[in-house]
Amino acid sequence: MVKITNELIGPINSKWNLMINIEKIHHVAYRCKDAKETTQWYQDKLNMKLILAIAENEVPSTKAPDPYMHIFLDAGNENVLAFFEIPNSPGMGRDENTPAWVQHLALRVANLEALEEAKKLLEAQDVDVLGPVNHGVFKSIYFFDPNGHRLELAANIGTAEQFKSLNKVAQEMIDEWAVTKRAPRHAAWLHEQD
Ligand SMILES: [Fe+2]
Repeated sequence: MVKITNELIGPINSKWNLMINIEKIHHVAYRCKDAKETTQWYQDKLNMKLILAIAENEVPSTKAPDPYMHIFLDAGNENVLAFFEIPNSPGMGRDENTPAWVQHLALRVANLEALEEAKKLLEAQDVDVLGPVNHGVFKSIYFFDPNGHRLELAANIGTAEQFKSLNKVAQEMIDEWAVTKRAPRHAAWLHEQD
């Protein structure tokens, strides 16, 4: 009997052209405290429209009574941000072992001007905004939604050459990190141009 190994799957896949090709993110889903409040907040603060609401009173697989509201918001260019409100579960928490800045959702804006404008508009609506922070090839501002999810708005400032040279060293950086658990220096120029 032939044991299917990675060495075998590689050639088989290319021979039969069995490759997975992801087109784009269909949606990402997070939990929210209140579907109506969340819909309103994203509409008011980020001009993101409600596309779709799906609700059930039972879990589809088990039929256990557990109502949920699943909302889908328009993040531009067919990108969709979704939330679930599940009122019968214990209140929302977060991963207390992970610093608050780590898990976040970043949304792109057109340019630096749009980023500065967004900061002004958010602050005018009493949202605490951090930044812009310079990441070398993009600049970002950060804030939290009413559910405690951290959001980032980012504007690219890097050249095509810069993104290309970062892409070239990415795998090497991961390999070095895997061994040292210290930041590799390949892309140190990113932080030296500020
Ligand atoms: Fe980020």
